[in-house]
Amino acid sequence: MELKHLRYFVTVVEEQSITKAADKLCIAQPPLSRQIQKLEEELGITLFERGSRPIKMTEAGQFFYEHSVQILTHTAQATSMAQRINAVDQTVRIGYVSSLLYALLPQIIYLFRQRNPDMHVELIEYGTCDQIEALKAGKIDLGFGRLRLIDPSIKRLLLRKERLLLAIHKNHHLAEFIESGLYLSQILEEAIFSYPKTPKPNFATAVQSIFTELGLVPKKLIEVREIHMALGLVSSGEGICLIPETASDIGMKNLAYIPILDVEAHSAISLSVRNMDQSSYIPKILDCIQDVFKNENIDLHMDNI
Ligand code: BEZ
Repeated sequence: MELKHLRYFVTVVEEQSITKAADKLCIAQPPLSRQIQKLEEELGITLFERGSRPIKMTEAGQFFYEHSVQILTHTAQATSMAQRINAVDQTVRIGYVSSLLYALLPQIIYLFRQRNPDMHVELIEYGTCDQIEALKAGKIDLGFGRLRLIDPSIKRLLLRKERLLLAIHKNHHLAEFIESGLYLSQILEEAIFSYPKTPKPNFATAVQSIFTELGLVPKKLIEVREIHMALGLVSSGEGICLIPETASDIGMKNLAYIPILDVEAHSAISLSVRNMDQSSYIPKILDCIQDVFKNENIDLHMDNI
């Protein structure tokens, strides 16, 4: 059996039609049907229920499909990894979500560059979700993000849970809570700006799920394009917004920040890498993270998630 047979079979399942699969694979329909038949003969099992429209798999076909997808994914990853290892240029491509630029990411990358002058570092902005696909495709080697996403071929390390703060205009009526902090249940009537607008899922989705987890429904949640816009509108007295603690360094005028007392109000920062990646840049970047955290007196988690 060759990999191409698995690819043919998976394409037929995904297209739910021999004709469409043949089109996609750029081969004629009769040879594709013959290859599927040969595969069934070789396996000694029936993969598709005869005469079903649209095409329906047998139970054994379903089992074989799931494993075929895994084999093809692993092969693609092994190929991109081998190409990376073979690459003459020592480039490490780092995907990041933009809000981490206000956090410790710049320090970590700077330290990494200092310690590894022969390595070329490329920073590429990607939403956490897109980082997973970019890692699998070999477009990036490390991904720093904020969301909990699960993928069997990606290993994720939780680095820290960053607290969220409420940004308000310094003269806002909630300013009386600057010292004491407040609970999210106290802001449900306020106009709350959330960001970014796209791509989903993102920080806006994470904030929305914190409210949902607490059984709360904010009355006026307004999506804006990005954090600067949200903070600019807050600074104009239009409403309030939740930000990761480190984003308070953005320093827009006339803003004040209120601690949020709900324990759920945090944003998890994580590092994603390919499961099988044994490259030397991984322990090297972890060392830099560890040293920057130590310098900043921040507890480092390093838990697999
Ligand atoms: C942080 O701000 O905690 C952080 C940012 C990027 C990578 C690791 C940690």
